Amino acid sequence: MKEINFGEFADPWRGPKPMTEEPWIHETSIVKNSRLGVWTAIGQRCEVLDSDLMDYSYLVKDAEVFNAEVGKFVNIASHVRINPTNHPMWRATLHHFAYRSISHFMADDDDAEISNWRKQYRTVIGPDVWIGHGAIVMPGVAVGTGAIVGSGAIVTKDVADYTIVAGNPAKLIRRRVDEETENALKRIAWWDWSREQIIAAIPDFRKLDSAEFAKKYDR
Ligand SMILES: CC(C)(COP(=O)(O)OP(=O)(O)OC[C@H]1O[C@@H](n2cnc3c(N)ncnc32)[C@H](O)[C@@H]1OP(=O)(O)O)[C@@H](O)C(=O)NCCC(=O)NCCS
Repeated sequence: MKEINFGEFADPWRGPKPMTEEPWIHETSIVKNSRLGVWTAIGQRCEVLDSDLMDYSYLVKDAEVFNAEVGKFVNIASHVRINPTNHPMWRATLHHFAYRSISHFMADDDDAEISNWRKQYRTVIGPDVWIGHGAIVMPGVAVGTGAIVGSGAIVTKDVADYTIVAGNPAKLIRRRVDEETENALKRIAWWDWSREQIIAAIPDFRKLDSAEFAKKYDR
């Protein structure tokens, strides 16, 4: 047996290129027509299109986000897909050629009706959400503040704040915190604190559970 240490991690947490306040985007990823907040990170082979990704949110790798509003401090695991678009099921063909016609050299224009229709279904992810490995969040769905989406889930309906859902279709497993704590955490809204306030509270984020944290900071 031989001890092996091979290759560099290609992410900002362990890799050679550290994070800064500027969005961190791996060279293999694509970000188009989107806005990224401070301390955001996009790992390997991701695509972020027509979306907003607010402060501190990150995609691990091989994740796709389209036409979405992603809140602050959202954790998006690898192979997650947010807003996989639908094809025009009412038409005689589902195929691209009828709307991405230019790239198929089959018409001089593309069909704006399809892109406008897709734009109506913006997926919204609240702050402090965790989306587990390989989950899919469907078009137009809202995932509430502090919610957890289990690995492999297919989320077809809105997810309530501070709940945990999993499965296909995703169903409620349990609440993440009790109602009193949920309300307090939403009043505290620590995700809107300044960076300095958050840094000062790190010992409490570490040692207190959510109920204890809510009690201490809900003034
Ligand atoms: C959803 C999750 C957070 C639940 O954790 P938990 O509250 O500790 O849940 P438990 O393990 O006690 O399971 C509770 C029930 O949910 C089911 N369940 C848990 N995770 C599930 C999942 N991802 N899909 C389907 N069912 C799941 C369990 O089988 C169990 O069902 P039962 O009550 O019928 O026995 C966790 O299972 C999960 O999916 N984590 C995501 C991990 C991940 O993707 N990490 C990526 C790196 S960021």
